Amino acid sequence: MSYVTDGNLTEVVMERWQDIPDPRLREVMQSLIKHLHGFVRDVELTQPEWFAAIQWLTRTGQLCDEKRQEFILTSDVLGVSMLVDSINHHLPPGATPSTVEGPFHVHDAPEIANGEMVTKDAPGVPCLVVGKVQTLDGKPIPGAMLDMWQTDGEGLYEAQREGIDIPWMRGIYHSQQDGSFIVRTVVPLAYTIPMDGTIGELMNKTNMSHMRPAHIHFAILANGFHPVTTHLFEKGDEWIAKDAVYGVKEELIVEFKKQPPGKAPNGEVFNEPWYLVEYDFVLDRMAKAAAA
Ligand code: BEZ
Ligand code: FE
Repeated sequence: MSYVTDGNLTEVVMERWQDIPDPRLREVMQSLIKHLHGFVRDVELTQPEWFAAIQWLTRTGQLCDEKRQEFILTSDVLGVSMLVDSINHHLPPGATPSTVEGPFHVHDAPEIANGEMVTKDAPGVPCLVVGKVQTLDGKPIPGAMLDMWQTDGEGLYEAQREGIDIPWMRGIYHSQQDGSFIVRTVVPLAYTIPMDGTIGELMNKTNMSHMRPAHIHFAILANGFHPVTTHLFEKGDEWIAKDAVYGVKEELIVEFKKQPPGKAPNGEVFNEPWYLVEYDFVLDRMAKAAAA
């Protein structure tokens, strides 16, 4: 073994961490050490800064439980979640792009019939999302599952609403025989990422926005197609160009068109203005072997 000098430390550590039977773990650890040492050298980290970072990471971990994940939020605001998403989803042009899932998805949402309101009595301005799930060459995909979730009209997700005991602003719709779907919901609101933890502490030392533009989440699943987890963002939202978690892709910005009172495509008659979003989700077919 080599004894360390100021000049050879990274080399010595890399050599030691070479001894890992799993080749992928070896590759990841070698790269981590190389970049971490490079970063520490680059900024010439002081000992108080090193200790502040250890304390910050400790407090971040202490905030995590089954309901809250401050490390995922850290990954989100550093753009790492979007980077991992992009490395893992190479979709062809024309397919609906993916974006971050975020912390508010809850599994086993209730099944909602086509055109029915996702959560009866939820506050907010009525909104219908109408479109088709289709292939890259425009053929309908019937029976696709559209798992959607969003804030209510007061800007709150289920996890943020106290005192409710029913699923809130989340539901599973299905595309019809012709690939069409009608989601009946309310207009979502822009909201702030959680700012009462260690990420808030860090963001407050910057001039960056901590807002996410208004959006509706969708996770779309159809037999034989690559699943996609994405959002539809409201065009014109004040924060559309500075999403705190870098989730906005141009193809996902849609107009929420204000409609006069009257009959909507789901047959409902509104006495107040309502909003219409038209969007077709395009899925990429899996290679035969992968789909089997
Ligand atoms: C969200 O989309 O709900 C979200 C995503 C990342 C961080 C915080 C919230
Ligand atoms: Fe969200």
